Amino acid sequence: MANQPVDAPSLLTNVEWERKPPSIDANLKDYAEACRTFRWEDVEREFDWSRTGKINIVHEAIDRHAAGTRRDKVALYYTDYDTRDERYTFDDLKRHTSKFGHVLKRLGVKRGDRVGIFLPRTPELYVAILGTHRIGAIPVPLFEAFMEQAIQDRLSDSAAIACVTTPALKARIPRPALPALKHLILVGAGGTLAADEVGYEQAMAGAPEWLEPEWLTKDDGLIIHYTSGSTGKSKGALHRQYAMVGHYQTAKWALDLRDEDIYWCTADPGWVTGTSYGIYGPWTLGVSSVVIGGRFDPDRWYQTIQKYRVSMWYSAPTAYRMLMSAGEAIPKPYDLSSLRHICSVGEPLNPEALKWMKKITGLAPHETWWMTETGMQIICNYRSLDFKIGCTGKPFPGTYATVVDDQGKELPPFELGNLVVKPGWPSMMKAIWNNPAKFDEYFRIPGWYVSGDTAMKDADGYLWYQGRADDVIKTAGERVGPFEVESALVAHPAVAEAGVIGKPDAVRGQIIKAFIALRKGHEPSDALKQQIAGFVKTNLAAHAAPREIAFVEKVPKTRSGKIMRRVLRAWDRGEPVGDISTMEE
Ligand code: WT7
Repeated sequence: MANQPVDAPSLLTNVEWERKPPSIDANLKDYAEACRTFRWEDVEREFDWSRTGKINIVHEAIDRHAAGTRRDKVALYYTDYDTRDERYTFDDLKRHTSKFGHVLKRLGVKRGDRVGIFLPRTPELYVAILGTHRIGAIPVPLFEAFMEQAIQDRLSDSAAIACVTTPALKARIPRPALPALKHLILVGAGGTLAADEVGYEQAMAGAPEWLEPEWLTKDDGLIIHYTSGSTGKSKGALHRQYAMVGHYQTAKWALDLRDEDIYWCTADPGWVTGTSYGIYGPWTLGVSSVVIGGRFDPDRWYQTIQKYRVSMWYSAPTAYRMLMSAGEAIPKPYDLSSLRHICSVGEPLNPEALKWMKKITGLAPHETWWMTETGMQIICNYRSLDFKIGCTGKPFPGTYATVVDDQGKELPPFELGNLVVKPGWPSMMKAIWNNPAKFDEYFRIPGWYVSGDTAMKDADGYLWYQGRADDVIKTAGERVGPFEVESALVAHPAVAEAGVIGKPDAVRGQIIKAFIALRKGHEPSDALKQQIAGFVKTNLAAHAAPREIAFVEKVPKTRSGKIMRRVLRAWDRGEPVGDISTMEE
């Protein structure tokens, strides 16, 4: 089950604490007290639907603020440091998302239909997601970097009826392979449009400024986020409207968001962090958000904090490590004193990066552990609670996460086991789209949601993430399934067989390494390696392309044909391969 042995006593002896002053002013004042008394039902009262019975996320995130004291408050600050520098109030977003709702309605898009959102990180991306919510349809965000195969898999599985995109990205949407896809809405197309294409700007200009939200129930669909597992193609985690209860409360207690904050979530809405905490959490709380377009650039990141006086910052360990490797001189000219809290998600934050961040900003990033499937943060460090540096944290009040053996029995401290969560938290996915069997796999240990991670608990009840129990790869915080990469690799004419693993890497957490057996007539060479990696880049996505390739005679498989990634990992480390009695001849 676990890939690496754990040295339990080192957790007892070598650990350093991040201590909190008793007077700290945090939204969550007393963790232990909250664990005793907190009830999710009480959070429901924070939403208008608890009185009206009428549910739609766009009402709770936008319209109710636009109708109240936050009407002219900036909801979204946006710049790409190039051609655009904009701000949108809650009232602006109400009008824009109403218009976009009309655009979809006119095309015949209905409640429950899926709408692909394939856009770069611009204000239109946020308007498109929220405008889709307004008519009760279900957005399917498609990360900007995805190439044709990845787009086809996701639009075809979700049977999206429309897709919002740009003329440049459109080339990666294989229309003939997508019979359900009836309409493209093109942002920035100018006048040149095909018969089944709509120009975003033209359609928005003519649309009315108000559209009443489609009123939904708690169980109606919110969003589908595709994510990767260790087997098969990517799977669509379907969330429900009720998830907003979880987004709201975790944004309040773990991110510690307040009305006066300027909040910067660096995640793209193509991934769940960019929606749960880039849209739903902050905006149900009525907090101002910063979004920047363009590529990662250390100088610009510090500049963003200074420019907007960012007070709460939510990013990922890879980003913090990239800032660290860019050096201490870069932040020097910038005023970072507006920051008051920082959180981290996606992979474990190593103590070195945490300490470096503390040196530069004065603040230790607080871990938040969760998954696409959990929809919201589950295990966190909290502003008012002491934590041990390097640990993942404690379960969010009202949730129960723990470590169990393969039969579901809870393990004593310092024993490595499955990290599991007791089902019933508000943002748990409702289904895997089109795939009930995959959904059931998450509950294979009776009574628990099985995360696929391994962990252990210490004597003080803190949880320590230890790794994945399966072959899922985390590279630069992004989740990649080895099967998807292997499928892309074997489509290359020179590749006979391919096996893919995550290889530990100091900055990216893991990098993708491929073991490839070539077809007859092809000779190993560096040029061929580059060509094969480039092939994955253009067909799947740049972040899914192998950074390392090793040519081998044969990819090790079991007699039933399953790739033995355990053997590949041992080869990579130059270690003995262990028991290979199940390996094919
Ligand atoms: C996997 C989920 C949902 C947020 C973005 C990632 C790993 C996530 C942590 C953390 C160690 C973490 C786990 C998890 N992970 N947060 N704080 N410490 N590992 O979502 O792409 O669905 O990936 O990310 O392995 O299972 P995701």
